[in-house]
Amino acid sequence: MPKSSTIAIDGPVAAGKSAVGALLALRLGYRFIDTGVMYRALTWAVLRDKVDPDDEAAVTALAGKTHIEVTSSDGLESSQIRVDGQDVTGQLRTREVEQGVSRISCFTEVRRAMVTRQRTLAKQGMLIMAGRDIGTVVLPNADLKIFLTASSEERARRRHLDMKGSGPSPTFEQVLEELLHRDKLDTERANSPLRPADGAHILNTESIDLTQVVERIIALAEDD
Ligand code: DC
Repeated sequence: MPKSSTIAIDGPVAAGKSAVGALLALRLGYRFIDTGVMYRALTWAVLRDKVDPDDEAAVTALAGKTHIEVTSSDGLESSQIRVDGQDVTGQLRTREVEQGVSRISCFTEVRRAMVTRQRTLAKQGMLIMAGRDIGTVVLPNADLKIFLTASSEERARRRHLDMKGSGPSPTFEQVLEELLHRDKLDTERANSPLRPADGAHILNTESIDLTQVVERIIALAEDD
């Protein structure tokens, strides 16, 4: 049993957080929660209700009345996301959601509501939680903090590959441009900007494969 019971994984778009988190959950017998889906679920509701994603008051009001349920993953079964009772799990990776999500994630009250939910979900421990502000804000006392990175070109290449086969595919250049735009919004926002937490271990996922990244994290979790 590793000494680390809560593991925070942060990093930019397509740095490998979900893949690493899921495999880690499987290896350690922990639960895994990717918090990005919670912000995506609210964006889905914003699109459903045709709310302007830049209208802070309207998005905040919607966040207050929207019921978002997320089940954790054990690494085998993926998590399920419901918005007001409707299963939206398969609808959160569209370009429309991607284009809105970093905009609504800037709003203070939206973040406050999400962070409260995430802390409740993390209470039982034996958990890996991934996002942008897990080590800095949500779980500053996490036993182990990881920050994953890779170059923007490599991350765009991964996203572009992911998007193939799901509707009209954007070009690599479009994917790269949108990714750089989301990186900018996520790192420059005033509320909980993306940055490595104090004491985070920074791992570059570009030149080592998924299993090696997971092995390194397990070694760190056992050491901690
Ligand atoms: O990890 P992802 O690409 O699914 O996240 C989607 C967006 O949600 C991301 O661009 C910023 C936001 N997000 C956030 O602000 N804080 C988190 N803990 C997780 C995601």
